[in-house]
Amino acid sequence: MERSTAKSLLKNTVVSPFADQDARIGRAIEELDTPTLLLDRAASDRNLARMAGFFRDRPAKLRPHFKNHKCVTLAKRQMLAGAVGMTCAKLGEAEVLVDNGFRDVLIANQVVGAAKVERLVQLARRARISVAVDHMDQVEAISRAAAAAQAVVRLLIEVDIGMGRCGLPSSEAVLDLARKLHGMPGVEFGGLQAYEGHLVNVVDRDQRRIQSRAAMGLAVETRRLLERSGIPVACVSGCSSATYDSTGILDGVDEIQAGTYATMDRQYYRLAAEFEVALSILVRVISRPGPGKAVLDVGVKGAGAEFGVPGIRDYPEVVIPFFLAEEHVVVNQAPEWSIGQPLHLIPSHACTTCNLYREIVAHEDGIVVDVWPIEASGRLA
Ligand SMILES: Cc1ncc(COP(=O)(O)O)c(C=O)c1O
Repeated sequence: MERSTAKSLLKNTVVSPFADQDARIGRAIEELDTPTLLLDRAASDRNLARMAGFFRDRPAKLRPHFKNHKCVTLAKRQMLAGAVGMTCAKLGEAEVLVDNGFRDVLIANQVVGAAKVERLVQLARRARISVAVDHMDQVEAISRAAAAAQAVVRLLIEVDIGMGRCGLPSSEAVLDLARKLHGMPGVEFGGLQAYEGHLVNVVDRDQRRIQSRAAMGLAVETRRLLERSGIPVACVSGCSSATYDSTGILDGVDEIQAGTYATMDRQYYRLAAEFEVALSILVRVISRPGPGKAVLDVGVKGAGAEFGVPGIRDYPEVVIPFFLAEEHVVVNQAPEWSIGQPLHLIPSHACTTCNLYREIVAHEDGIVVDVWPIEASGRLA
């Protein structure tokens, strides 16, 4: 996106529209009700600047994954830092972005079913929408609906580069689908979608680099096969916050879909410690039922835990046992915490955590500076 366009998108919106009215602004975060999702704004800004800076003079461009935070204000800050557009996992997320002025959105996922396809083509009348496909049935449904609505949907054929999720398993199968969709009404071939998600969590960085480059190399090989066959490939899109500096610099990769770098979380900090953990959940000690035992007021309904239990900021020695009830965390070797004491939990997974909240409270140096709605929270369809 042109910088001037990005700036106009951001006009009056890098802060919450309710900023003046929210009584929490200016207060110390420890005074807030709990649980509250917090973001250290300066730390997040440094993350955005670091990632954007990495790609500033490189051929690949940043298209951050919105699913990390689902927050329009944060997405706009990513655009201002230099992103060319956003990536989404769900059509509903893309709708939220377009409703808020975004004009170039990739849904890196398959959109299937008559109701969804109709929403997709209506969205494509309002913005440049790209979507992943890996089967002719999807292409035909989108083409029919888009032609009827006089819309154009950009299709990225998904290649399975080892993750074993969606995507065609071979370059030849991709070539075949690209040939078939050529010239169909209402759609245009936009390139390839390829995500090396099975390698993102390889902790050894050298191993991760070697393996993820080999995997993304399969997408680049597919690109070359298409090009040799006379089909131009405008874009190969993929990569993550843990592989941006390995697959993101491969010749033939154009767009980086990194997401978690914006907020970070406990799991990702093990993988890419150059980014700061900006996200936390403010919680309180609500009970001290026995010696050493403390109960905190959040559970799995307030902290995504697929990658393990949360950590407690400033108390690295306090380990939360693998027990997260719906609304409670029980700590067995708690220090002298008093009832009502505020603590900061660092969730193991930012993306599912943000999806559980309706707003992010932004703070700097422990003082609330803004409150950002999480507009796409719960948008699963
Ligand atoms: C399609 C796709 N692209 C990119 C990413 C990378 O996101 P992150 O940087 O949060 O790992 C993901 C993560 O799930 C994904 O599903």
